[in-house]
Amino acid sequence: MADKFYITTPIYYVNASPHIGHSYTSIAADTLARYMRKTLQKENVWFLTGSDEHGQKIQKAADEAGLSPQEFVDKIVVQFKSLWGKLDISNDDFIRTTENRHTRTVTRALEILYAKKINGLPMIYPEKYDGWYCTPCETFWPQSQIIDQICPDCKRPLEKISEINYFFRLSAYQDWLIKYLEENISFIRPESRYNEVFSFLKNNKLTDLCISRPKERLRWGIPLPFSQEHVVYVWFDALLNYISAVGEFDQQGVYRSPWWGDDCKVVHLIGKDIIRHHAVYWPIMLHALDIKLPKEMTIFAHGWWMMGQDKMSKSRGNVVSPLEMVGQYGIDAYRYFLLRDVPFGLDGNFSEEAIIKRYNGDLANDLGNLLYRTLTMVEKYYQGVVPDVGAHTWSGQEKIIREKMEKAGSVNAAISVNLASAGNNINFSAALESIWELIGMANKYVEETKPWNLAKENKSAELKAFIRLLVDVLRFVAESISPFMPSTSESIRKQIGEDKIIKGNPLFPRIDTKKPA
Ligand code: MSP
Repeated sequence: MADKFYITTPIYYVNASPHIGHSYTSIAADTLARYMRKTLQKENVWFLTGSDEHGQKIQKAADEAGLSPQEFVDKIVVQFKSLWGKLDISNDDFIRTTENRHTRTVTRALEILYAKKINGLPMIYPEKYDGWYCTPCETFWPQSQIIDQICPDCKRPLEKISEINYFFRLSAYQDWLIKYLEENISFIRPESRYNEVFSFLKNNKLTDLCISRPKERLRWGIPLPFSQEHVVYVWFDALLNYISAVGEFDQQGVYRSPWWGDDCKVVHLIGKDIIRHHAVYWPIMLHALDIKLPKEMTIFAHGWWMMGQDKMSKSRGNVVSPLEMVGQYGIDAYRYFLLRDVPFGLDGNFSEEAIIKRYNGDLANDLGNLLYRTLTMVEKYYQGVVPDVGAHTWSGQEKIIREKMEKAGSVNAAISVNLASAGNNINFSAALESIWELIGMANKYVEETKPWNLAKENKSAELKAFIRLLVDVLRFVAESISPFMPSTSESIRKQIGEDKIIKGNPLFPRIDTKKPA
């Protein structure tokens, strides 16, 4: 495993307020960043997020709001930043594509590529384009991939377009990318997505990528350094945020960054809808710029949150606000739900009933109850002082629970261990499930042991060991949930982390689902 860890979210389009889908990627990235900070130390982890502020979508939204694009993005970006604060997202940096450091890098990257040749041909060349374009997706589609003039991705009507544009010679890198993927199977995860991209590359010919838009059609973008009449295609601009935020090209055009190299693992977390851009365009752009792909680099694509049959998205008008959910259930219950309910990588169905079920079951009944009853017993039997058992031999159910703690610890650690291995599987849900199995065992142990009988029968050594075990379980739980639910972890630690307990308010007061009569 590399010594350093650089994790990113996609940079979000600030054409509308953030919704649950956006918060999902950020919460997942935050959890990994927090996890890796525990493993590698804080200074060896860099967590980047940001905003994608150029392009047609933004220009259109700004026009509709009667604002200039810059005024518009300045307004919306505040909502994203404030949401991340409210969700305890611990990003180290936030890049906006309208910032100087970014536009400078994009311009430089284009100058470098423009001066280069591949197979004796210019890497970037102008050409008249006649074809089909999806404005909402900002994507050109080759005739071979379209049916009935409908966008293969978003299913909206395509526009016929005829104009001069600049193209990046993506096609020249197809064999290189196939070979790279063959040699780096963990570059795209989960495995199903790797297979999808790999077979796409094996069965289709890559077409060159159109990297410009005429200013007469789109004003809002970074000017192309070698044409007065064009701005840069928003995806070409956006992908470069991953390097513009953490480094610079030097005078000789060599990219330098403390977070890019073989000593640093790079993980780009994205949704499955933007896999092609990240798994095809991005590695080719880097390679063309002579930026070596780090030895450990993974693009992990998660699934979608659906509302019934549809993806939750602004264009479908079915979005749920994360702020509303947090107001209703609290930050940690929301974070827990998103990461626990659906295995990372698969689609999930969003509903408040499902949140309430997790809240009342896993959080109030299981975790809340274990903490409450343990604190109550420490108070009742030991005047609030956590008992010390000295050199105790754990046997029977106690031993089983201690072993389970070790196992849960290793499942939790598997998040990072797997990140380093070829498996590269990020499975938040399994890690949480394993911790909750332990909580369930501890609760069952209380019910079966009946501590009040131990007290009545004056079995003081057994009672001490019993309570000490529960305290240890809770301390372990606080430690292992900290990347997922930072403030709950803190609260458990405050109540039971020291020798003297400090009983606080219940962690998750039950939500009454019965309607008032
Ligand atoms: N701006 C581009 C990303 C550029 S990265 C160099 C973009 N932005 S987005 O705002 O449309 O989407 C950002 C992320 O949110 C994507 O990873 C997308 O998959 C995710 N989600 C948007 N809706 C979603 C759901 N309903 N469910 C889960 N995630 C989804 O794409």
